[in-house]
Amino acid sequence: MPTRRTVLKTGLAAAGSSAFTAAALTPTLLRRSEPATTTAAATTTAKFTTPMPIPPVLTPYSTSGGIDRYRITTQPAQAEILPGIMSDVLTYGGHFPGPVIRARSGRPVKVLHTNNTDMGTSVHLHGASVTPANDGSPMDPIEPGQSRLYTYPNNQPHASLWFHDHVHHMESEHVYRGLSGTYLLTDDIEAALPLPAGQYDIPISLRDADIDDTGRLNYTMLDFPHRTTLLANGRAYPYLQVAARKYRLRLLNNSNLRFFKLRLADGSDMIQIGSDGGLLPAPHPTDTIALSPAERADIVIDFARYPVGTQLVLENTLLNGGPADSLGQVLRFDIVRQETDPSTIPATLRTLPPLPQPTVQRTVVLSLEETGLPDAKGTINGKVYDPDRIDTKIRYGASEVWTVTNPNRFSPHNLHLHLIQFRILERNGQPPTPAESGLKDTVAVQPGETVKLQATFDTYKGTYLYHCHLLDHSAMGMMAQYKVS
Ligand code: C2O
Ligand code: CU
Ligand code: CU
Repeated sequence: MPTRRTVLKTGLAAAGSSAFTAAALTPTLLRRSEPATTTAAATTTAKFTTPMPIPPVLTPYSTSGGIDRYRITTQPAQAEILPGIMSDVLTYGGHFPGPVIRARSGRPVKVLHTNNTDMGTSVHLHGASVTPANDGSPMDPIEPGQSRLYTYPNNQPHASLWFHDHVHHMESEHVYRGLSGTYLLTDDIEAALPLPAGQYDIPISLRDADIDDTGRLNYTMLDFPHRTTLLANGRAYPYLQVAARKYRLRLLNNSNLRFFKLRLADGSDMIQIGSDGGLLPAPHPTDTIALSPAERADIVIDFARYPVGTQLVLENTLLNGGPADSLGQVLRFDIVRQETDPSTIPATLRTLPPLPQPTVQRTVVLSLEETGLPDAKGTINGKVYDPDRIDTKIRYGASEVWTVTNPNRFSPHNLHLHLIQFRILERNGQPPTPAESGLKDTVAVQPGETVKLQATFDTYKGTYLYHCHLLDHSAMGMMAQYKVS
């Protein structure tokens, strides 16, 4: 069985890039490079003093032939994560987090990505059904100074997707430093609903960071305890001014390791209308939204129930033993004006196709060596990721039930499958909650849990990844490949 180091070497050899040097990897793997004189920003940053940025929606440079074409450059930039302090980050087009692409089912998108960093990159559209060549392979990077055209056919229903770096072993640090953007795919079914739209439909990317009071963003693999500053759309503890009406918020957990449990400070309901793969069958009122890394929740909050002048904090109740003053609060909604609200939430949002009869059963065991050391290995079914190995062979068109377990004592995991959206059949023997009853591409698996999901492989043939989306874990080897043929 290959060790992580041999896997890493394989990766370096296959990448054939001088950008993948030991020097480039060393600081992230071996030490925290934080001067002793700085303090974690989480303890000093004043909360709710700056507005939450809203990432720009990109305009295609061409729409001819029924194809929307974009250009995006991956580049270093500076971002104001802490009020008045600039931080070095990696960006898609200078934006931290990246920009928004709005697409429509049946209308292809082509994005020419240019890599203006000094390391290899690879762009993956998470949750999308694309051919293997356009899936952002970890082993096939865009070299520094080079460009690559990615084609997204959008032959799938509406969904709140996102794109991020996936280059082998560095995906975790690259995403942490900012290589993440939003891709909102709509279709006729979704567009016909009277949901909040336009400026009342806001993507919010939530994450943690280890950032000191000079603005330095520190990355050390698996260093969860120091990532105690929470960011909403790239800003630490911002406020968002809203009208007293309904808003649709597309939440993404953009953390590498942190799970969130979100609630409004007054304990009142949010209405969850969607998850990873688009709308739920019916709206789900809930006081808690749970998100593991890469999961999305599409929610509606009706601020009309609050008088103008109200300030309402979005809280996180999952502290994992960390400091409540920095991990317990995320973002503040300031209700600043009255407005009429033509939007409504229909009682039925969509009808999901019936599940086919499954023909194959498999088990997937997600495990991490719980040594606490950065060279611990992550495995799937006991094996570290090997790009030269096919772990699972799938017959084209097959519908399969995967039973996913996490035997770890402490470490939560999740499972993400490329290419397809799946359905959750059971969690610990119980039917899925409403929040997990829609289409999913990522599912949380806590220590000791068992999740059954059903996936149907009837879109493209070829080799695709499945992995834990705690990106530090996938970078440590908790990743595998299936081949549809
Ligand atoms: Cu979000 Cu392998 O991806
Ligand atoms: Cu993915
Ligand atoms: Cu994991």
